[in-house]
Amino acid sequence: MKIAILCGGRSAEREVSLRSGAQVAAALAACGHIPERLDMDLETWERLRRGGFDCAFIALHGRLGEDGTVQGMLELLGLPYTGSGVLASALCIDKTRTNRLLAAEGLSVPDFEEMPEQVQEDDAEALAGRLGLPLVVKPVREGSTIGLTIAGDVDEVASGLVLARRYDRRVMAQRFVEGTEVTVGVLAVPELNVLPTLEITYENETYDYDAKYTAGRSHHIIPARIPEASRQTVAEAAARAFRLLGCEGMARVDFIVDGAGTPWLLEVNTVPGLTEVSLLPDAARAAGVGFDELCERLVRQGIARHEQRVGPL
Ligand SMILES: Nc1ncnc2c1ncn2[C@@H]1O[C@H](COP(=O)(O)OP(=O)(O)O)[C@@H](O)[C@H]1O
Ligand SMILES: [Mg+2]
Repeated sequence: MKIAILCGGRSAEREVSLRSGAQVAAALAACGHIPERLDMDLETWERLRRGGFDCAFIALHGRLGEDGTVQGMLELLGLPYTGSGVLASALCIDKTRTNRLLAAEGLSVPDFEEMPEQVQEDDAEALAGRLGLPLVVKPVREGSTIGLTIAGDVDEVASGLVLARRYDRRVMAQRFVEGTEVTVGVLAVPELNVLPTLEITYENETYDYDAKYTAGRSHHIIPARIPEASRQTVAEAAARAFRLLGCEGMARVDFIVDGAGTPWLLEVNTVPGLTEVSLLPDAARAAGVGFDELCERLVRQGIARHEQRVGPL
């Protein structure tokens, strides 16, 4: 099959996406396909329309890629694509709307607030009063820890709000959860398969961009070193989130598991990193699904979904 790998693009996670795209291209070539990497730009629509592709593999992270926009373009083009559809993609990129929905369904989400458009001078102090310190400030629609601050005092909350707003006009503040950082991959290609819980440890002070993408700066431990009962709870929470949000193909759900074993859900990634140091591919490998097979199965799932369509979307 001739497969377009959409990567790069204009999001803050462009570099990561290029790395994901290169890995996916190698995997699909190893499976006997003809991969063609397309760095997303204004010409992409035409190239997809005329390229004779059988499927598009979305290896774009963040906005204008993971967020439903590219999925919508592919729907209009009538081209099968990997992963979640328009709605789940658009929902999951929006951390506050995702959080509200999941909290309403009874999942544990750390208390959070979305900030009003206009920041007031005493906002930082009021936030610290309501959420406690430290607290986390982050852009609502960003990834890879970009624009995120773990604020230890009111001044850091104030500067965190300014920093986050550089990346998104929508900014949120959240209670800081102390515990074990765990992420859970979920595959649906097509059967739902919750991958082993993966614990993340890191050398940097926070699990920041550098810790995520520099080999050796963070470590993956599979299964996570949490009690067996917590592993089950966290796996169930990931599967529930996947279903409730309507995700398809794959997703990776980030949690912090506290001392009492409660899995606090942070976010759902619909196009998780697919680089050589990424989490979901590692968890899939631990479950016996190698990277080549993972990519192949995602393509098949995208094509099967397309064939099962009744009417548009
Ligand atoms: N409420 C929180 N409590 C503690 N740590 C957090 C919290 N929110 C985010 N973090 C830390 O910041 C990292 C990135 O946050 P996350 O919400 O997953 O956004 P993204 O990965 O999209 O940048 C997390 O992996 C975690 O280390
Ligand atoms: Mg995350």
